[in-house]
Amino acid sequence: GTPDTRLPTGSETGAPPTANAQQGAYLTTSQGARLRDTDHSLKAGPRGPVLMQDHHFREKIMHFDHERIPERVVHARGAGAHGMFTAYGTAEAVTRAGFLKKGKETPVFVRFSTVLGSRGSADTVRDTRGFATKFYTDEGTFDLVGNNMPVFFIQDAIKFPDIIHAAKWHPDREIPQAQSAHDTFWDFVSLHTEAQHHAIWNMSDRGIPRSYRHMEGFGVHTFRLVNNAGETVLVKFHWKPKLGVHSLTWEEAQITNGVDPDFHRRDLYDAIEAGAFPEWELGLQIFPDTPDETFAGIDLLDPTKIVPEELAPVQPVGRLVLNRTPTNFFAESEQVAFHLGNLPPGIDVTNDPLLQGRLFSYLDTQLTRLAGPNFSQIPINRPHAPVNDMLRDGFHQHAVHGGVAPYRPNSLDGGNPFTAGDAENAFLDVPVVVAEAPKIRENPVSFDDHFSQTRLFWLSMSPVEQEHIIRAYTFELGKCYEQAIKERQLQCLANIDPVLCAQVATGLGLPAPEPTRPLADVAPSPALSQVGQEWPAD
Ligand code: HEM
Repeated sequence: GTPDTRLPTGSETGAPPTANAQQGAYLTTSQGARLRDTDHSLKAGPRGPVLMQDHHFREKIMHFDHERIPERVVHARGAGAHGMFTAYGTAEAVTRAGFLKKGKETPVFVRFSTVLGSRGSADTVRDTRGFATKFYTDEGTFDLVGNNMPVFFIQDAIKFPDIIHAAKWHPDREIPQAQSAHDTFWDFVSLHTEAQHHAIWNMSDRGIPRSYRHMEGFGVHTFRLVNNAGETVLVKFHWKPKLGVHSLTWEEAQITNGVDPDFHRRDLYDAIEAGAFPEWELGLQIFPDTPDETFAGIDLLDPTKIVPEELAPVQPVGRLVLNRTPTNFFAESEQVAFHLGNLPPGIDVTNDPLLQGRLFSYLDTQLTRLAGPNFSQIPINRPHAPVNDMLRDGFHQHAVHGGVAPYRPNSLDGGNPFTAGDAENAFLDVPVVVAEAPKIRENPVSFDDHFSQTRLFWLSMSPVEQEHIIRAYTFELGKCYEQAIKERQLQCLANIDPVLCAQVATGLGLPAPEPTRPLADVAPSPALSQVGQEWPAD
């Protein structure tokens, strides 16, 4: 029959996986041989040299020597928690995804992170935060790999190494550029002006969350949902925190970084252990799937754009409760591997060029970070759905596969597994028409507008939020050595808003330039301001 390649998940029962964990009453080698001493190496007499034959010594030290694995190339600093997602059923009309059916409960693991700092860096820095959720659905794992900001710095993944090089460590000092000299970051942002929108979110209070429990989350990209009738809609995913969106002031954040660099990690752990389970509501902005993939004139494939909630309200589809801390940080928070291509039936990707590039990057980086192609067998990454894949062998293979060599169909071992029922149950790529078009390295014209939504964000802020933004730009740009970079960024600010530009210019002791383009005619969006953002009463 068909070989069952499924591995026990352990966590199906809610208990931590026990494979290879310490068991039994006495200490052993890794092979299970009982030990009677682990404090003395084997020597030629009490004062003699250590003997090469001391296998226990060599095994113990060898394993310790290799305890660390590479930290993530971005989002290295993070903390995770387990929880449960319960669907309201309100998305059933637009997607066939089983985990969104009314009342369905799905276990999840969430990892929150900063982007730029290394694994041991401080929590309360000014940065974007990752908000990555692994839904262990019955139909295969769904990874929603989002951030706490709804837009991204770049429109094409091919620039990702460049923005990260500009923002991470100085090659000579290995001090993050965003925390010492800021020239490369602001050089990038002022030359690649598509980054201005994300940058103003970073300069706002959103850049320093009060805790992970007080953050919104966003899938950023537009995704495509498909229902049982094959009908599609375009959607953006939103997480709304029950506690509302709150931030630290810059001064609070600075003190906290010194006094407790683990502030966010500690808060998440302590809250869950105390029974104050963090909660979010998952919501969808839903748009018709039109051929031009726009809504209200906004290009839905441009990840530097939002759709204001006044134009497309966020419709709640389920609730997430984080209720269990990891048993082992390394095994769970460190080894978890998210990937945007992990999609259940009913959710599909779009042609957003940033999303398309991410579909390559995560698998590729995890091949190195987790040492080989079998990281989906690591307990935290194991699907809770039955697995019967055709993948074999490779580093750290844990499954013992039976049957003949994996090819399908074959007449020797189970025949053709693709049978009636697949159309209802399998993941089917939505047969989107790919336009006949020249092969070209070029963006659509709609990607050229970099300032109108940046201005929309600025105008949507309350006076105190605007004051914080002015102070943040002034402080951060004040760390640049190159006058030309400050001037170029001031020019960008002039194109966002003359008041913002004038205030920052004054702070920097520089003249405020005139706008080089007409200011966008946009109305403030109340949903963008953090002031008064609370979860609606139950
Ligand atoms: C990691 C979000 C864009 C490459 C992450 C993580 C998050 C995230 C939340 C941390 C995952 C974890 O906790 O393990 C986003 C968002 C993006 C974005 C929301 C834009 C909308 C990109 C792009 C690339 C990229 C464009 C590359 C082309 C990576 C890599 C990692 C990562 C290599 C490390 C993954 C690992 O080592 O497991 N990203 N990212 N990201 N991201 Fe992104």
